Amino acid sequence: MSAEAPPVAATGGGPSGEAALAAAQAEAEATLGAVVDAAGLERWYRAQLSASGAVSALRKGIGQLPLEARKPYGAAINALSTTLTTAFEARKAQIEAAALEARLQAERVDLTLPARRPRVGRLHPLRSTLREINAAFQSMGFAVYDSPHVETDEYNFQLLNIPPHHPARDMQDTFYVANDGLAGEAALDAEGAPVQRVLRTHTSAGQIRAMRALGANGTAPVRVILPGVCYRNEDITTRSEVQFTQIEGLMVGRDVRLSDLKGILLQFARLIFGGEQAVRMRGSYFPFTEPSVEVDLRCALCGGAGCRVCKYSGWLELLGAGLVHPTVLRNGGYDPETHRGVAFGVGLPRLVMLRHGVDDIRHFYRNDLRFLQTFR
Ligand code: PHE
Repeated sequence: MSAEAPPVAATGGGPSGEAALAAAQAEAEATLGAVVDAAGLERWYRAQLSASGAVSALRKGIGQLPLEARKPYGAAINALSTTLTTAFEARKAQIEAAALEARLQAERVDLTLPARRPRVGRLHPLRSTLREINAAFQSMGFAVYDSPHVETDEYNFQLLNIPPHHPARDMQDTFYVANDGLAGEAALDAEGAPVQRVLRTHTSAGQIRAMRALGANGTAPVRVILPGVCYRNEDITTRSEVQFTQIEGLMVGRDVRLSDLKGILLQFARLIFGGEQAVRMRGSYFPFTEPSVEVDLRCALCGGAGCRVCKYSGWLELLGAGLVHPTVLRNGGYDPETHRGVAFGVGLPRLVMLRHGVDDIRHFYRNDLRFLQTFR
């Protein structure tokens, strides 16, 4: 039955009224069955169950019925209304379920598609080796001490027994920092002389700072490593870069000897290169150590038999070291009569090159993943 059709109940009551109700119900159910979407539902509801709909129109016919027929007729209309409301709700749920199903199908995600594997980063080989080195020295009781990259000429050179114009300065081509360029740093020293600042050429500059900070005016022992970046105005070649990480080691105490240095470095070599290792010392020269030595590691790649990496000598130059010079001890606050120290400085890239047989330092800074991924 459509909304425009004349109210059926108006034509009579009694049996004919009941027939009209049955016809109205059949009509309503048939049209509801044909509804397929939300808009159709809305139209059907207006035509059948709203105040202006067919059921209301039937209800208005009550007044024309004999008194005794009104009550059952009203009850029948109420029943019809309930039946149609229930049918409407059911159809509505069906249509909504179908719409949801259609949407799920349309927006279907194909979970059988292979997932894209996330690319997981890892530490750069210089960084991961530095962490191993820090851990190796920490296992021997060394603390890590941080010192500034922008140093004064005094700390980088003078207090290390390298006065102005000393020929040892030629070994470390230095970047000088403009005196007025540093916020918050004094441009003049206590005597009113301009402070010359440099990018530290070696981590040895931190030796004085560590002794002064931790030595308690020359009374307390010190055992630290000072890892960090150093800067030299070098040509960039397979072996040198303008910027490279060094690890300084410093141990000061009442009865520290060169044999301690050898033992520490041997243990260090075992921890970093693995297995049994051997080190040897050769005489050398640094202004801040006396005696000074070069420490060689028996070639970790060929075991001393001779190979391309050790240039068939069986030994690899590992680092510079020595007993801390008495002048340097004094500058750090210690009395060289009662205290001695050992110090060493090792270049991180060189160590990683030796360990992994890398032949060009520049690989470390190019960030070529093909190179970096060989260090898994
Ligand atoms: N500072 C030296 C260099 O950079 C290495 C070194 C450190 C030597 C400590 C002796 C003692 O070459």
